[in-house]
Amino acid sequence: MTRPPDRPGRVVHDWAPTPLPGTVFDPLPHRLLHEEPVARVRLPHGEGHAWLVTRYEDVKLVSADPRLSRAATVGRPITSMTPHTLAPAGGVGRADPPDHTRLRRLIAPTFGRRRMAALRAHTERTAEAHALRTLETGPPADLAETFVGPLSATVVAELLGVPAADLDRVQTWRAGLLSNATTAAAGEAVKKEIAGYFADLARHRAAHPGDDLVSELAAARETGGISTPELVSMAVMLTLNGLDAVRNIVSTMVYVLLTHPAQTAKLREDPARLPRAVDELLRYIPQRDGVGMPRVATADVEVGGVTIREGEAVYVFYPAANRDPSVYTEPDRLDLARDEAPHLAFGHGAHYCAGAQLARMEAEVMLTTLLTGFPALRLAVPPDEIAWRAGTVNRGPEALPVTW
Ligand code: HEM
Repeated sequence: MTRPPDRPGRVVHDWAPTPLPGTVFDPLPHRLLHEEPVARVRLPHGEGHAWLVTRYEDVKLVSADPRLSRAATVGRPITSMTPHTLAPAGGVGRADPPDHTRLRRLIAPTFGRRRMAALRAHTERTAEAHALRTLETGPPADLAETFVGPLSATVVAELLGVPAADLDRVQTWRAGLLSNATTAAAGEAVKKEIAGYFADLARHRAAHPGDDLVSELAAARETGGISTPELVSMAVMLTLNGLDAVRNIVSTMVYVLLTHPAQTAKLREDPARLPRAVDELLRYIPQRDGVGMPRVATADVEVGGVTIREGEAVYVFYPAANRDPSVYTEPDRLDLARDEAPHLAFGHGAHYCAGAQLARMEAEVMLTTLLTGFPALRLAVPPDEIAWRAGTVNRGPEALPVTW
């Protein structure tokens, strides 16, 4: 068989993301977006190499093509960011239809309009209470740890039905799981512990149901709609995303607003601009170090002029797609009034983030509370003195010291 010309001599780029401060964009995927939009990369763990796709249209194509499978990644030592696979088999992130469709349908009502409206009211009340406490005890204050972090934890606990008293344990697991430094054995041990916790919680909720997601999943399990490993995996995924992604990205949003005072002043004058501004922040902020979960081709698939062969692994990098110059004018510039193509920060296709509406709602509520409650809010230290998390999947400030 003759090899197509896209193969021979194609270099494999080593991609070991180093911790980056603030919203500094990772130079390798930025360069590949411009120079080699379908490239081969080798990540710090796993074996071999994989394709990395960075352009907007190509990323959409890959994430919506059913021939690029998540289920086919299970059991393969694909080159990856972490030494252990974050998403266990049976998880929604590693399933294809019909399992994937069944799992997403089960959680859809939780993230539907009625629940989100109720949760918005709850989040607004909680945000007010946290803001008042911050006002009483400061300035200064660390907004990441005293406002954004605890608030996102309360919201996800409310949604899932995790008792508030258990949140500290959940936070410890989060830190263990999402660290790039966790060894495979330590990662597996944490996963076992967290699985035991959610299995117990589901047993308890089956006997004493509440108005929460774990109760609903426990009821679905009784009728065969979901297995125990699937339930546990779903609960873990929702908890980790709800705690970590929101804490980091909303804290970074506050940092970006405070370091762009002219644009933020306009936002204060006209709060109706906030939803659009949140979307621009989501587009602009490179929310993670490296890539998430790969897909494996179940047939030869053409992407951006390159053939991804059956059996090969491919990653998309959503933050790069969000900086594609063929889609966004001056993509590397923050423009809170931008009105261009929808960003891909929540992914695309069947695996589009289940919590996107929740995350948007939390961001809107928290930013509104801060902009209205703290008219003189500013960083308490020069921007380059903020410490940024290192060696974790999601980027974000260690602490966000502010004054007012
Ligand atoms: C601003 C914060 C967040 C961002 C930027 C974000 C982003 C993403 C991205 C990029 C994906 C992967 C798409 C793919 O696999 O191709 C994803 C998947 C997912 N997210 Fe989020 N997320 C956020 C918050 C949340 C929250 C709050 C929840 C729920 C509590 C959540 C639940 C999920 C779930 C369950 C999936 C897997 C969906 C699937 O595979 O079908 N996320 N998210």
